[in-house]
Amino acid sequence: MVSVGEPIGVADPRLFGSFVEHLGRGVYGGIFEPGHPRATVEGFRGDVLELVRELGVSVVRYPGGNFVSGYNWRDGIGPSTDRPRRLDLAWKSIETNEFGTDEFAAWCRAAEVEPMLAVNLGLGDVRSALELLEYTNYSSGTALSDERRSNGAADPHDVRLWCLGNELDGPWQLGHRSAEEYAELAAASASAMRMFDQDLELVVVGSSNADMETFGSWEATVLSRTIDLVDFISCHIYFYNDGDLPAFLGSAAALDRFLEGVASTIRHVQTVTRSSRDIRISLDEWNVWNYRAYDALKPGRSFEQAPRLLEEEYTLADAVVVGTLLQSIISHADVVAIAALAQLVNVIGAIRAEPNGEAWRQSIFYPFAAVARSAGHTVHQTAVRSGSPESDARVTVTRSADGESVHVHVAHLALDRPVDVEIDLAEFWPERVAHAELLWHPDPYASNTQEDPVTVAPSTLETSLRGGRLSVTLPPLSWASMRVACRVSG
Ligand code: AHR
Repeated sequence: MVSVGEPIGVADPRLFGSFVEHLGRGVYGGIFEPGHPRATVEGFRGDVLELVRELGVSVVRYPGGNFVSGYNWRDGIGPSTDRPRRLDLAWKSIETNEFGTDEFAAWCRAAEVEPMLAVNLGLGDVRSALELLEYTNYSSGTALSDERRSNGAADPHDVRLWCLGNELDGPWQLGHRSAEEYAELAAASASAMRMFDQDLELVVVGSSNADMETFGSWEATVLSRTIDLVDFISCHIYFYNDGDLPAFLGSAAALDRFLEGVASTIRHVQTVTRSSRDIRISLDEWNVWNYRAYDALKPGRSFEQAPRLLEEEYTLADAVVVGTLLQSIISHADVVAIAALAQLVNVIGAIRAEPNGEAWRQSIFYPFAAVARSAGHTVHQTAVRSGSPESDARVTVTRSADGESVHVHVAHLALDRPVDVEIDLAEFWPERVAHAELLWHPDPYASNTQEDPVTVAPSTLETSLRGGRLSVTLPPLSWASMRVACRVSG
């Protein structure tokens, strides 16, 4: 029996963000493909736009990632034919700059998502960040704002969320710095950006992963200098299956520890600086990324335009793990305010698209879309009686603000047996199960392909609701999402 406990916090809609980087076919052949039969007048792929809306993405980070640390945003504005072709050293690619800041802002409007822009604090500087900010957000009457208007964007893009660089703790990053050096640069950038607009929401760079030698000390140093200047500290984490499937299925425990580690460092810095500022976590890159696909920087590869890089084919096992990672994220709704599935299309993406061809949902699309429907809900603690069969299941319960619906997400991680799960929802006055879906396949490594894009897709799940208790039987290695309609008391 699973019992439901106290509320943890409200799942901010921004927990269901994603990320589009100039990397491989993420932009070109991903969200942007003029000439595709489903292209909009702006050259955006209409089929991909539909899938992005269906996925329920709220906010999209751009333009990188490692790419941003070598990017000059001015290369990506103005008449497309005048834009320079450049080498992108981060991903050993040729960047045509056909797609830039104005196109991204227009794409966000079409996709109905909020933009989250990263400034270049690798090879870039405070001035280039400020100029980008003025270009995107100032109304008119200055050289930069009028340049934007003459490039076709009469209204400012009004971007609220800004990342102060990307992964500058990583030696692979162009412009990699020590924590002390980055802290000074981030503080200078944040102060200057706030001189333009006090109310911007700023994300300072945290650790690139939990295994970084500097994890913990990086956050402490950077936040001690910037705590009163920023709103969020980032963290990034990717998980992979090295062949030990049971260990891989336990990935969410490592995410729990990572988030709790960052949260305790935030509290430590608040204590030592006597700051009452409410700093939250921006987990702005997370996903399953099987490193066997990490072929971007293979020696001998030549610079190419929009090469096929990191085109992960996600399996059922990956989807179940992604579901558990989402459960971990929403279960930390008290400390995590933003999260971005990295990435959106083609590049370690929830969506795949072929040039001139179809777009389809990868297996990981489904748990993301299901949990994203819990945006704005209160997330409740859950407890599984120890030793009960449900101990192989991870259960999350959320409740809508109006009390009319409760969502239950269950990951079943045992590989060799089904499980009966019973969840006590009596306190919510449940009336009927309005929707119940199961993601399952007998082969943990089954995936969706261009030839068969629905191999791993949800089917209807049988449930029973008696005496306020919701019961389901789940097959080995599966994911279930249920929506229960409730009576509103009073
Ligand atoms: O998402 C792919 C890459 O992973 C990003 O460019 C970088 O920030 C991270 O290391």
